[in-house]
Amino acid sequence: MRLSSSPSGPLRGRVAAPGDKSISHRALILGALADGTTEITGLLEGADVLRTAAAMRAFGAEAVQTGAGLWRVTGRGAAGFAEPTSPVDFGNSGTGVRLTMGAAAGFNIGVTYVGDASLSGRPIARVLDPLSKMGVRWLSRSGGRLPATVVGPGRLSALSHTSNIGSAQVKSAILLAGLNADGWTQVTERSPSRDHTENMLEAFGADLSVTDTNEGRIAAVKGGSRLAAVPVAVPGDPSSAAFPMVAAAILPGSDVIVEGVLLNPLRIGLIETLRDMGADLQIVDQRSSGGEMIGDVRVRGSALRGVTVPAWRAPAMIDEYPILAIAAAFATGETRMEGIGEMRVKESDRIALTLAGLRACGVDAEDGPDWLAVRGGPAAGGAEVATHGDHRIAMSFLVMGLAAKAGVVVDEADMIATSFPGFAAFMNGLGADIREV
Ligand code: S3P
Repeated sequence: MRLSSSPSGPLRGRVAAPGDKSISHRALILGALADGTTEITGLLEGADVLRTAAAMRAFGAEAVQTGAGLWRVTGRGAAGFAEPTSPVDFGNSGTGVRLTMGAAAGFNIGVTYVGDASLSGRPIARVLDPLSKMGVRWLSRSGGRLPATVVGPGRLSALSHTSNIGSAQVKSAILLAGLNADGWTQVTERSPSRDHTENMLEAFGADLSVTDTNEGRIAAVKGGSRLAAVPVAVPGDPSSAAFPMVAAAILPGSDVIVEGVLLNPLRIGLIETLRDMGADLQIVDQRSSGGEMIGDVRVRGSALRGVTVPAWRAPAMIDEYPILAIAAAFATGETRMEGIGEMRVKESDRIALTLAGLRACGVDAEDGPDWLAVRGGPAAGGAEVATHGDHRIAMSFLVMGLAAKAGVVVDEADMIATSFPGFAAFMNGLGADIREV
């Protein structure tokens, strides 16, 4: 499906952000591991998360939808994961497959993992190498790519791992495997990544510690910890809220409130950056929900200025750089995003696609191995942008088309449903003009 977005007037209105993708995956996985029944509210029913739900069923857990966003997961508890009878297909989802590899590692089962073309091109050795140090055996396509078959030994050895890439998926896989290891398994991160696995493990009763040291943040879990089901309320996804937020910021006269956005400090890099750029952004009604801070984010159109986004902020907004680059295209001066090399191994090489799309739209931009610089101005638009099936590239350039002098067409938009089903209708409800062409 090709979608176009046309220059629109100001966006206005109040909308609820879709459920957080990271927390949705984790709720299903921890629910499947736990004793008892986990009731989930606000689950993101995007294609990626539904893959994880299907995978948990393949491991013998029960995962049923009981209403819109309402799910009931009955876990395997002491019985542990059962061996799936066929390859487990994670579609486009890196989070689903990497976290599940960790969760399943401690059981004496053999599992073959497969995914779509994009996922099959992404690195998985970053997870399977540490898991092999804990005792799993694995075989994959060359270069550590899916399909991969992983055999768990039944009981794992504890691991002390130091991660330099700031990946929550790697950290989470190791901690989830650590539930079935002898002793304490720990992950040290120099730049802390999102901590939803740690928060949820704690809520499910695992023996867990998180400590800040000179070497970085250390998250440790005690092997043999049993998980007990607790209700999970999934907050709104800041990575999805990013699209209406930036659209409102760059369209003069806009006034949009996105309700219930997760404000975890390790996820608010874009909010901080937009504020640095001079956006008129307020957090209204900050409150606690399900152990996380949430709030309603109000954004009004305003003049933006270019900034340097420091490398240390990258883990707190790694999925938001494509949409930040769109904000940067409408800002005065240069925006420089540093330390973003991880963007090259997402659903696509997001630095390359963001750069190509901006240039196609007439924006002055430049990249390096781990940086992107965008020089803002009156963006021209009018281009057809290649997304390579990457949902966040598609949504970002659709937002660009709303504010550019001429509209934007994205060549492949079906993948938007992996993270933000109903995106076009959501944006059009605020006054955007996004339609199929
Ligand atoms: C995620 C972590 C990030 C992010 C992804 C979701 C998670 O990936 O890009 O969309 O839920 O743990 P990395 O951990 O590989 O940086």
